[in-house]
Amino acid sequence: MSFISSDFRTLLMSRHLFVTTALPYANGPLHIGHMMEYIQADIWVRFMRMQGHRVHWMGADDAHGAPIMIAAEKAGQTPEAFVRAVAATRSRYLQGFSISIDHWHSTDSPENTALAQDIYRKLKAAGFIAARTIEQFYDPVKGMFLPDRYIKGTCPKCGAEDQYGDSCEACGAVYAPTELVRPRSTLSGAAPELRQSEHFFFRLSDPQCVAFLREWTASGALQPEVLAKAQEWLGKEGESDRLADWDISRDAPYFGIPIPDAPGKFFYVWLDAPIGYLASLKAYFDGGKARANGEDRSFEAFLAAPDTEQIHFIGKDIVYFHVLFWPAMLRFSGYKVPNRVNVHGFIQLRGEKMSKSRGTGLDPLRYLELGMHPDWLRYYIAAKLNANVEDFDFIPEDFIARVNADLVGKFVNLASRAAGFVAKRFEGRLAERFDLAGEAMLGQIAAAADEIAALYEAREFGKAVRRIMELADAANQYVDQRAPWVLAKDPARARELHEVVTTSLEAFRRLALLLAPVMPTVTREAGRLLDAQMDAWSRLTDALPPGHAIAPYSHLLSRVEERQIDALFGIAAAPAAPPTAQSAPKTTAPAKAMSDDRSPGTITIDDFAKVDLRIARIVAAERVEGSTKLLKLTLDLAETNDEGKPRLRTVFSGIQSAYAPEALVGQLTVVVANLAPRKMKFGVSEGMVLAASETSEDNRIYLLSPDEGALPGMKIS
Ligand code: MSP
Ligand code: ZN
Repeated sequence: MSFISSDFRTLLMSRHLFVTTALPYANGPLHIGHMMEYIQADIWVRFMRMQGHRVHWMGADDAHGAPIMIAAEKAGQTPEAFVRAVAATRSRYLQGFSISIDHWHSTDSPENTALAQDIYRKLKAAGFIAARTIEQFYDPVKGMFLPDRYIKGTCPKCGAEDQYGDSCEACGAVYAPTELVRPRSTLSGAAPELRQSEHFFFRLSDPQCVAFLREWTASGALQPEVLAKAQEWLGKEGESDRLADWDISRDAPYFGIPIPDAPGKFFYVWLDAPIGYLASLKAYFDGGKARANGEDRSFEAFLAAPDTEQIHFIGKDIVYFHVLFWPAMLRFSGYKVPNRVNVHGFIQLRGEKMSKSRGTGLDPLRYLELGMHPDWLRYYIAAKLNANVEDFDFIPEDFIARVNADLVGKFVNLASRAAGFVAKRFEGRLAERFDLAGEAMLGQIAAAADEIAALYEAREFGKAVRRIMELADAANQYVDQRAPWVLAKDPARARELHEVVTTSLEAFRRLALLLAPVMPTVTREAGRLLDAQMDAWSRLTDALPPGHAIAPYSHLLSRVEERQIDALFGIAAAPAAPPTAQSAPKTTAPAKAMSDDRSPGTITIDDFAKVDLRIARIVAAERVEGSTKLLKLTLDLAETNDEGKPRLRTVFSGIQSAYAPEALVGQLTVVVANLAPRKMKFGVSEGMVLAASETSEDNRIYLLSPDEGALPGMKIS
């Protein structure tokens, strides 16, 4: 068998990779767009690890900024508690889709504060910070300066009403908020006043900075189309005034990091957000995780080392921040600059942005809760991805077809057919040798390994899986030609049969290794079935040994069913039977509010229909200081806000005597979703959870929970 081993190369040039993915805003759960980015990076990272390279992949929540501060205030929470509740939801998504991030941190952390202030001080010392007084709209009622997005008014160009402070959705005009006719604050409705404030600017227009960016952007760090965009921003040589200085400060009140020696001033969220990559890495080193992952150097030494490759994965909407601001910040504060920024396009559903709402969205947790296999989605996304900045559509029919035809039909079938024979006819042991007629096919798989490796490394995942499926086709053709089911009928041909099924299991093993970066769960199961190591690319050469014992076949992967897709996209509502006498919800006793003696008598179905009952997931629960009765619950009803970002609700519930808050986190319950928000001493309650109790004094309170299978946001009728 001829086949080039990559062992030597691996030994000679084991790379040290510091990888990041964009830090999601901590204002709500992760959506499919985030998952797409994580899956892309995870495939690449797993591939690199299989090559023997050392990867340290950092993630974190992007916790700061005005929108999060305002959302927390609306939820009656401190911003810290608000982002903590959101952070607590992350691991279910990451684990659920086998995302192998090494450390998850937050930009609202001591490490980030120290690093951001350090970088700022160094930029200032190097002369890259300028102070300038600017005029800005101020909300006299809220007592704060207003970000552009919180100002609305009439478009100065076309007269369209209700337009945002930076651009008009009706005519497309771009303007300053001060140009709006009849501006108003969307926070208080008040007419904003112009006020002066001192701001700090990063001097991006400095000729040194422009020169550096010209050089860095052309250094091979960027995809061609990203480089072209950067060069457009940078302008032609000699047009050094193309880049505007960047306003990096915000006035209090602001949820952010204080600017040193400037009371009442905070860093704009986008200043400290990318520094969060370094903060996460620092916490990873300080906590001993880097050492456990084979890195003995200090954080500082690792970060500064010439052989440490700093690689960022981001979406196309945040390129400006990552290819101009970020490298310039690092460069002029004396840090090492990024080696590579990998930009991806957006995943959409039939042309619509997927992050928008549940109605058109693909909710990652719902996907998992429906029992859909994470490797299905990983495979489908891999098949759609290339190294360019292109959007792609999630097409449900296409998803079903690819998963069922490729993964089940071509790949897993190779194992299930063959393993059955091995178990039944050969006591679970493989033959002494491969079938001569199959050697060519096995050689073909081995020979394609380098080409497929190159495709993975270049993030051409679609091409890689297509190539692997061609090999799977060849393997299936081989099996069809040798027809083990025919051989099985002739006892004289038992040995031939044994060799054929052994060969087809070896083909399966090789294909599973080639697919391992994409399908970690199935690959792990394949390794268990074959009792073979699947951890390194070099295992391709470790053919299954003669007479090797394999485990009994257990199901590796099932087919996607159409009804799962329907349920995923909410096409089929909950399989709820109409409420008949027997099945009528026994569930309508609001907490401590209504006992039998206060029953309001008969209501009509229309009365009942006015109550919007929904399933909610409790994402956080805490005791309310100063109350012996209330628990403060943070609930996920699968809702989104106006910007299409996921939104959580706060509900205060009088169940403290009966439930430890920790025990509630993660549970599903039932909420009156359209109850008018109620201002309480401790904050605003945005709904009511349902619980049963005997009398209002009793501490035996029973929170309602739905049967298994119900999902956040489902309507109860
Ligand atoms: N907080 C900033 C990033 C700071 S990085 C120092 C942010 N957060 S985000 O939550 O809005 O987006 C996080 C990542 O998800 C970004 O890379 C963004 O491009 C990506 N995506 C958001 N929607 C997406 C799709 N529909 N498809 C693919 N990726 C998308 O921006
Ligand atoms: Zn207009």
